[in-house]
Amino acid sequence: MQTKVSLQSELAGIHFDNLMMNAAGVRCSSVVDLNKIMVSSAGGAITKSATIEPREGNESPRMQGLPLGSINSMGLPNHGFDYYLDYVMKQQEAGNNNIIMSIAGTSIDENIEMLHRLQASDFDGLVELNLSCPNVKGKPQVGYDFDAVDQVLTEAFSFYNKRLGIKLPPYFDLTQFDQIAAVLNKFPLAYVNSINSIGNGLVIDPETEAVIIKPKGGFGGIGGEYVKPTALANVRAFRLRLNPEIGIIGTGGIKSGMDVFEHVLCGADLVQIGTAFGPEGPAIFERISRELEEIMDQKGYKSLDEFRGKLKTL
Ligand code: SIN
Repeated sequence: MQTKVSLQSELAGIHFDNLMMNAAGVRCSSVVDLNKIMVSSAGGAITKSATIEPREGNESPRMQGLPLGSINSMGLPNHGFDYYLDYVMKQQEAGNNNIIMSIAGTSIDENIEMLHRLQASDFDGLVELNLSCPNVKGKPQVGYDFDAVDQVLTEAFSFYNKRLGIKLPPYFDLTQFDQIAAVLNKFPLAYVNSINSIGNGLVIDPETEAVIIKPKGGFGGIGGEYVKPTALANVRAFRLRLNPEIGIIGTGGIKSGMDVFEHVLCGADLVQIGTAFGPEGPAIFERISRELEEIMDQKGYKSLDEFRGKLKTL
């Protein structure tokens, strides 16, 4: 086949040979897993969201595949901030700028502390502040509290002068998009990543008449095909509202080249794959790249820029 099309993209001045990477959470907790992504057809990788100290996360079973996606309540199991900073520093020293460090403190103070450490470090790449994990017991998703988002970003940008993106939960009402975009547009954000899982869904096994994951009485974040229309709506709504300097990573419901095509049509600069990456592993990036190249070739597109954000309305 042809493959004269390019899947290259750029985010905050950083070049990516391919617009796809993993989503923070799935198969990206260890150096071994991260290395597998870095040598795959993915354009880069993002680390599991770090807390300052290592975390075990929630009790098992805490993740379950579903016919059209997944439910999880992992609770941020991770090796701790220093482990991931060491990894992204080594990637940077090897000349790989396509690695994103994700952080998800369980309080605003913890996030600010990690950003201070990143500011003081030699790491100059992208950092993603995850304000949207729905699975830490007793902790709200900061992304739903617009004053708190304003507060953490005001504090962060008072000292942090490197490239900072933000991962958000899904929004559902157009007034929510107006309000959160007004907050985000006040700051020199590198990008917005939409969406995290749809928080606190409930999946039941009617046979056993029980929930299927243990933490939080069975409530967990929903991902996969179930969430694609919500993810597309969030990417589109943000692209229509955010300053053009703020890039967008589209995440949610991607399992085929057509899904990526649709995210880019809505305005995504890069895309991340979570639920489908779990069972398929790093080979997914090559398969989906092939599918996307075929779609673009059939439509006569040579680059992503030719259709990015150009969704038509009726
Ligand atoms: C988790 O660790 O609970 C999932 C990660 C996230 O939702 O940000």
